[in-house]
Amino acid sequence: MLHRIKQVFAALTASITPKDREFIEQHLNSEAQKLFWAMNVPDQRHALNVAYTALRLANNYSNVNSKLLVKCALLHDVGKVKGDISTIDKIITVIGDYFFQNQLRKWEKQGRGSKMQNLRHAFYIYFHHAAVSAGMLRKIGERPEMIDIIANHHKTPAEGDPLELTLLIESDNRN
Ligand SMILES: [Fe+2]
Ligand SMILES: [Fe+2]
Repeated sequence: MLHRIKQVFAALTASITPKDREFIEQHLNSEAQKLFWAMNVPDQRHALNVAYTALRLANNYSNVNSKLLVKCALLHDVGKVKGDISTIDKIITVIGDYFFQNQLRKWEKQGRGSKMQNLRHAFYIYFHHAAVSAGMLRKIGERPEMIDIIANHHKTPAEGDPLELTLLIESDNRN
């Protein structure tokens, strides 16, 4: 919980360097880049940090597809689109999830509108952004292999998971 709160505050000062920009241009095609830049800067920063951590972890394995892993890392949270969720609603989701996860899973609802609808939508994205991200990537024609990994990035790790999924989850948890 403390980790999540720290994350929210670290996010307020997040920025992207020219080197990061180069890295993104190297690894993503133009359609995918559009989705990347459509996130908030803090989510862009998070995705980059996940990608850098994932690359570091990948060094320990000879059988990992690093290109696939980096793409997954950069794009895993694209379902969180800029302007869709306010900062205050984001903070409420983190705290609410900690205390009332089960109730909120029934209360969340897709679609913005009134203040209350926006908050319910924030919880919808909080709980379902993996599937939303996967859907967006399917639309731009990304490969099923990658879409599956991204769709599953908040599931409990299981035996037989692709190594890239295991490393994505590990890197996501560290960032
Ligand atoms: Fe995520
Ligand atoms: Fe993430």
